[in-house]
Amino acid sequence: MLKQIIIDLLSKQTGLRKEELLNLIEVPPSEDLGDYSFPCFILSKKEKKASNLIAEHIAKQLSQKLPKEIEKITSSGPYLNFFVNKTFLAEQIIKIDSNFGKTNLGKKRTVCIDFSAPNIGKPMHIGHIRSTIIGDSMMRIYSFLNYNPIGINYLGDVGLHIGKLIVAYELWLDKNALKKDPVAELLRLYVNFCGKEKSEAKEGMEQEEEFADNEWTNKAKEKIKLLELGDKKTEKIWDEIRKASGKGFKKVYDLLNVSFDETTGQSEFTRKGKNIVALALERGLAKRENDGAVYVQLDEKNPESKKYILRRNETASYITYDLGAAAERFKKYKFDKMIYVTDFRQQAHFSSLFILLKLMNYEFSDNLIHLPFGIIKFGNEIIATREGNIILLEDVLEKTIEKAKEEIKKRKTKGDAEKVGVGAIKYIILKNEPIKDVQFSWESALSFEGNTGPYLQYSYARASSIIKKAKKKNINKGKINLKKQKLSKEEIRLVKKISEFPEIIINAEKNLNPSLIANYSHELCQIFNEFYHNCKVLTAEKKEEKILRLRLVDSFRTCLSNSLHLLGIETMEEM
Ligand code: ARG
Repeated sequence: MLKQIIIDLLSKQTGLRKEELLNLIEVPPSEDLGDYSFPCFILSKKEKKASNLIAEHIAKQLSQKLPKEIEKITSSGPYLNFFVNKTFLAEQIIKIDSNFGKTNLGKKRTVCIDFSAPNIGKPMHIGHIRSTIIGDSMMRIYSFLNYNPIGINYLGDVGLHIGKLIVAYELWLDKNALKKDPVAELLRLYVNFCGKEKSEAKEGMEQEEEFADNEWTNKAKEKIKLLELGDKKTEKIWDEIRKASGKGFKKVYDLLNVSFDETTGQSEFTRKGKNIVALALERGLAKRENDGAVYVQLDEKNPESKKYILRRNETASYITYDLGAAAERFKKYKFDKMIYVTDFRQQAHFSSLFILLKLMNYEFSDNLIHLPFGIIKFGNEIIATREGNIILLEDVLEKTIEKAKEEIKKRKTKGDAEKVGVGAIKYIILKNEPIKDVQFSWESALSFEGNTGPYLQYSYARASSIIKKAKKKNINKGKINLKKQKLSKEEIRLVKKISEFPEIIINAEKNLNPSLIANYSHELCQIFNEFYHNCKVLTAEKKEEKILRLRLVDSFRTCLSNSLHLLGIETMEEM
């Protein structure tokens, strides 16, 4: 929060807006020039005065009454340099506890997060992992900032793929296989069907895939119609498929330690969605084509901007359900905002959805956000292709845990392979900005060095073992007076880095970007390891020094544990 204090000071003094200042404040190239600096050029134009004179003047003014966090403010040419009061800062940092970083920014306001959302009957592919992991991290961040996050898993339980599966289930089901491994058997059925259908389908927009006049596609469509008519036999198969794939999803969520407040199928919003379509027709906002399909022209000046909200045969489409779901969720949760975490290829869908809701005057329509993410690549191939060439989430998880086991055995350590493997996968996803593509390789994910999950978990375990040893030797207690102690360069760096944590969380929320927390955690560990390398802790000469350093190790542990918690990564005392 140091930067915030400086921003407040400067904003009061100069009249510049706080948001503006946030981008102007720099970290000087050398620590001799202070901890933060502010270039006064921007004021020079405004005040028609040389920037160095302005810097000098402001330094003098601000120095008259310094807040306790700031030791001194100087000017150097056109720059204002701020020197943080390290003693004061260190006194704060050695006192932190597990609440460190929590704030009341959210004031219990509700944020709905729609994430994971796999499709029933199909296994979760590696593309769904990204939604699940990013969504879960956002849930944790909101909860830390005292929002009331509601995690929603919106299961794809309608659409052509369900019809395809029902056809395949009737024709080729192997009952024993379904019992033994439901996900694999459903996939076999689905792939079998797609083979017959012999067409390529795109990922991400499953619900919109349709092939005109294909014998197999038509069979699937028939099943959908039967479902809508409430045909008992078809419904029973649908239910069996739903249950079987639910089992598969649960296994993955348990492994990832992810849960939801609500799990609802798209189908539950059929009626609500259709009612909204009817309302749009009534109001003249929507128009009906001769074949019965209903559309809205999203841009009044552009006749090409037609968005269909109901299909030809009056059946709901992907967007019909989303219209219904958004309205129902607002009724239920009165959310302050709602975030949808999906593949970037659904950008057009969400942008249409939000425009439609706005045209319909829904009060919440300005509070909807799409958080898109990029592709995951294994080597050179893109993961998200279906039909045969699919890489299952489960397989990736299992294989990673297996590899973690080998690594742990090789190192003869006590790590928990599941925590290491799952942590490695979560980290590789989260350290990348969501919209960027992820390059996945087991070797780099599981390395104990570099910017990886295991490196962070290892740093935590290392700090824990220091604390444990100190407790055993009973040297962890005692008084220190920081005013009498001179802090080393490494100690100061660690203190400063830890103090940045609260601001990092706020930025991660603001930018919907957990990678800020991931990369912060990595830098924190690097600084800690440098500190540990250069400063004796357990064998420090002076008692006061030893105690201070132990306290810093402990604060580092607390801070890292909180930041890993926000990423959904578990820590181990030994590794
Ligand atoms: N089931 C969809 C898919 O796998 C994602 C659903 C995202 N959420 C939503 N409200 N549309 O592509």
